[in-house]
Amino acid sequence: MTHSAQPSPLQARSSGPLAGEVRVPGDKSISHRALILGALSVGETRISGLLEGEDVLNTAKAMRALGAQVERTGEFAWSIRGVGVAGFAQPQVPLDFGNSGTGCRLVMGAVAGCPITAIFDGDASLRTRPMRRVLDPLELMGARVRAGGESGRLPLTLNGACDPLPILYRTPVASAQIKSAVLLAGLAAPGATTVIETEASRDHTELMLKHFGAQIVSTREGPHGRRITLTGQPELHGAEVVVPADPSSAAFPIVAALIVQGSDIVLSDVMTNPLRTGLMTTLREMGAAIEASERRGDAGGPMAQIRVRASKLRGVEVPPERAPSMIDEYLVLAVAAAFAEGPTIMRGLQELRVKESDRLEATAAMLRVNGVRVEIAGNDLIVEGRGHVPGNGLVATHMDHRIAMSALVMGLASDQPVKVDDTSFIATSFPDFIPMMRGLGAAFG
Ligand code: S3P
Repeated sequence: MTHSAQPSPLQARSSGPLAGEVRVPGDKSISHRALILGALSVGETRISGLLEGEDVLNTAKAMRALGAQVERTGEFAWSIRGVGVAGFAQPQVPLDFGNSGTGCRLVMGAVAGCPITAIFDGDASLRTRPMRRVLDPLELMGARVRAGGESGRLPLTLNGACDPLPILYRTPVASAQIKSAVLLAGLAAPGATTVIETEASRDHTELMLKHFGAQIVSTREGPHGRRITLTGQPELHGAEVVVPADPSSAAFPIVAALIVQGSDIVLSDVMTNPLRTGLMTTLREMGAAIEASERRGDAGGPMAQIRVRASKLRGVEVPPERAPSMIDEYLVLAVAAAFAEGPTIMRGLQELRVKESDRLEATAAMLRVNGVRVEIAGNDLIVEGRGHVPGNGLVATHMDHRIAMSALVMGLASDQPVKVDDTSFIATSFPDFIPMMRGLGAAFG
């Protein structure tokens, strides 16, 4: 899906209390995986609640190009008829993942186990992001890579393995994308493929592989890690997938309600998988009034209805081992920290440098241009909270949806309005962000 080239600036101003109940869109991680696993299964997979954002739609398009039948059957409802493990067909067009590292890296894993050749490409942001971290293990499994441009960057050509080898792989960084790429390639390999991670990352691939019929075992490894072993060459069968609301999208209305005085909102069906709830833990430590009533579990883990009321926040220290469980939430946490009293120290944020933008620098710049004191010390980010934010800054979004949304949330409670240079990338993950926030009472425009 081609992203519209036209930048779309917007301003957020001080708002009255936010109120109401909303359901943010389906989880992005689960949506990508549901499409990919559906495409690798035999029979029909029916997905409800799919995130229909640009990132996921690009994955759907790639699954079609690889031979799966992918159909939209209703609002957020999709049906996939898959080709079976290792059954992808040679794509006739380059696979364009737009802005999405997750779609690109997971599909690289799935393609690496098939005897086909595919060209992988993306937008200007994705073309700067490191792919070596995924290509290294995939080459050990027998895939071959020809770089089109700079080594380890898109565009590149991947030759999948004719006889993929199972491996035991220790991920060099806590990354669900690396883990998932190895496991998806391992589906086509005979015997056991094992991934060891020293810090547990989100486990949606493991849970969903099980849901689709694979044999996969996850055990603890060291104080914070996991050892995951997949038995290769299973017959995956089509499944029903109900996608819960995305906690990484819920993060924006949650922080908005905390910082806009008098707010009281409810978010329904938010996924509360413990490997995704680092932000909620941190905000509660800061004094946030967040109540969660858990409902039920499914392939994505438990979910909850979450009530958030405006709160006086205080600065805290966030330990590095919490990073994998809130890796996409530091930008909006930094906004909450700016409205808190006292410093918030966020440790171990090196992975933020290789996201849709260099989020460590971009977060610091977003706050500085709005009058907040902030420091980057090595891989740590220190925000000096003073209970209010002056605002009046223009934030550069660097093709990064989460910077745009974080800056707009900040503007809802800052003394002067906050402007962002481009909101168009919000469509990659949260297409209805602006109308949904307006419905809660946000003053945009
Ligand atoms: C994701 C994993 C994370 C996260 C991304 C989604 C996933 O990336 O930042 O938004 O769905 O596997 P890393 O695995 O590179 O940390």
